[in-house]
Amino acid sequence: MKRKLLTTSLLILSTAMLGMSSVAFADDDDNGSILNRWLGGNKPGVAPVNNPQYLEECGGCHFPYQPGLLPARSWHKMMDSLDNHFGENAELPAEDAQLIKDYLLKNSADKSGYKRSVKIMKSLRSDDVPLRISNTPYFIKKHDELTTNMVLNNPKVGSFSNCNACHTQAAKGSFSEREILIPNFGAWEEDD
Ligand code: HEC
Ligand code: HEC
Repeated sequence: MKRKLLTTSLLILSTAMLGMSSVAFADDDDNGSILNRWLGGNKPGVAPVNNPQYLEECGGCHFPYQPGLLPARSWHKMMDSLDNHFGENAELPAEDAQLIKDYLLKNSADKSGYKRSVKIMKSLRSDDVPLRISNTPYFIKKHDELTTNMVLNNPKVGSFSNCNACHTQAAKGSFSEREILIPNFGAWEEDD
């Protein structure tokens, strides 16, 4: 009787541990928090933009970067300095600015369970407040094989900020390697 109880509880324990390890290794190199994964860390890419005001106001000069590409603290800082936005004045009427800021803060990378958001957050120190996605360690690591001729000197790209010049499904929040087409260079060779 006692013995049977022990076996049963061992069985329950090992089943529980098996369950935990399959959560921990659900996604090869993805080291997001257990909570984030549980919230959907297996969702690929980033959550697509679903706010028409954001698309209109922040998608006029460049690709409308998904809120899940930067932490809330970055959006906070950016939205409080739109009069000096990368050398441009991107100021908005107070009401619109507040609406967009709320949207960005609510959907920022630190609150998202999408894979790319989790990875960007993982690459930052808690006191990093990057204003460029293209300056985050995760981004830099992912793009370190690209040459100047592919980006800066490429008239159809010009800057790393121009995500959708190469990522054909960027607007859908998808940055998968299979979907990359570098203008004048073609598809990206997958190496892993
Ligand atoms: C008047 C034009 C203009 C408007 C409007 C504008 N931006 Fe920008 N933004 C720029 C320029 C210019 C850059 C720098 C691009 C480069 O270096 O190639 C930039 C860069 C950025 C970057 C950094 C991209 C990177 O390299 O990772 C983010 C994030 C960004 N903008 C967010 C926003 C948001 C959010 C809004 C809306 C509140 C907005 N922008 C509205 C002109 C604008
Ligand atoms: C000049 C073309 C180009 C531009 C512009 C560019 N990327 Fe990329 N990106 C690439 C290439 C090529 C890779 C694949 C690198 C590798 O893993 O070998 C990549 C990889 C990625 C990955 C990882 C994909 C994966 O499967 O591991 C993400 C996420 C990403 N880019 C996001 C962005 C964002 C966001 C922007 C804009 C701020 C951007 N990229 C701008 C070419 C570009």
